[in-house]
Formats: sequence, C-alpha cells, structure tokens
Amino acid sequence: MEKLSGKKKIAVLISGRGSNLKSLIKYSKTKNAKFKIILVISNNAYAKGLGIAKKFKIKNLYISYKNKKKFESQSLKLLEKYKTDLICLAGFMKILSNNFINKYSKPILNIHPSLLPKYKGLNTHKRAIENKEKYSGATVHIVNKKLDSGKIIFQKKIRILKTDDKKSLEKKILKIEHKVYPKAIIKFLTNY
Ligand code: GRF
Repeated sequence: MEKLSGKKKIAVLISGRGSNLKSLIKYSKTKNAKFKIILVISNNAYAKGLGIAKKFKIKNLYISYKNKKKFESQSLKLLEKYKTDLICLAGFMKILSNNFINKYSKPILNIHPSLLPKYKGLNTHKRAIENKEKYSGATVHIVNKKLDSGKIIFQKKIRILKTDDKKSLEKKILKIEHKVYPKAIIKFLTNY
C-alpha cells in the first residue's frame, strides 16, 4: 500500500489537454513526492485531462461553467469535502472570482508559459516572438485577485532562437513546464 501520511492533498483545475496534470500525477507517484493529486475538476466536459485522471483512478469531474457562480460554489464544496491543502491550476482557462479566492482558505498556484510579469494572459508565445524577445520561459506563481500577478515561486528561462516560431516555442516551454511545476510545488510546500 502507498504511504499517504504527511502528503499534501492537491486538487488540479483544468480546461483541456492536461499534459501538466499528467506530469504532476507522474511526479506524485515517485518515491519521495510530498503531494498527492486527489481531485481533478474541469470546466470542459471534453477535456483530455479528465481521461488522464480517470486512467490514474483519480476522482475527476466536469462542472459546467454556464453559470460561473454555480461552478465555483460546487467546486468549493468538493474542495472542502476532499479537504484539499492546495489547488493547482494547470491549463485552467477561466479566471477565478475574488469571492472564490476569499472563500478558499488554502493557497492556489498556477503555471504560466512566459517570464512573468511579462506577457500575462493569452498568446504569450506569439507576443514574445513578435516583440523579438531573446528569452521566454515558464513561471509558477501564487494566484491572487489580479490575473497572472501573484507572487512568483519559480521561474525557468530559455533562449528564444532565431529559428523559433510560436509552435516550436510552445513545445519547448511546455516541456519545461512539466519539469518546473512539480519542483515549484515542492519548493512551495517546503516553505509553506
Ligand atoms: C500550458 O502551457 C499552461 O502553462 C497554460 O496552458 C497550457 C496548458 O497545457 N496555462 P496542458 O493542458 O497542461 O497540456
């Protein structure tokens, strides 16, 4: 039997592909992992990530986002029921309300594919390339009431090559995200 004592319980919120979710689950299965993914919530019924959670036998749910208030109150109920210690957003394409952030008393982390505070929001790779940036990267930060603006926990920088386009940069950074997110969580939990 897997030893669970002391492991922090994480809920992951997703909207789509779920490659970061998968990397977090895989990390959580390693010997000295300090966390366990116990709940996955998606606002998109067709999110590939739901299938990933299912495969790993993790409780997973689609909650409709037609009514944001309902989505958030149902999610809060579940988070309470499962006594989660932390929420990790992983490709969750919605903005949590101030009410949600106030009501969830535990921390919320997010991963963003840019060197924050640069390029908050969407289309980060396209904008970085158009602006002829030399570097980009991935950032893990605490979620606060302002989009992509909370305290930075971990950042990894990579060089943008002249040959890079939006797609190649996205691919490179996604690979980095998969390494950085588990590390950042561990760092956060160690200091928390
Ligand atoms: C990642 O690039 C993440 O940083 C961003 O959305 C993408 C989600 O990818 N917020 P995935 O669903 O984890 O594969």
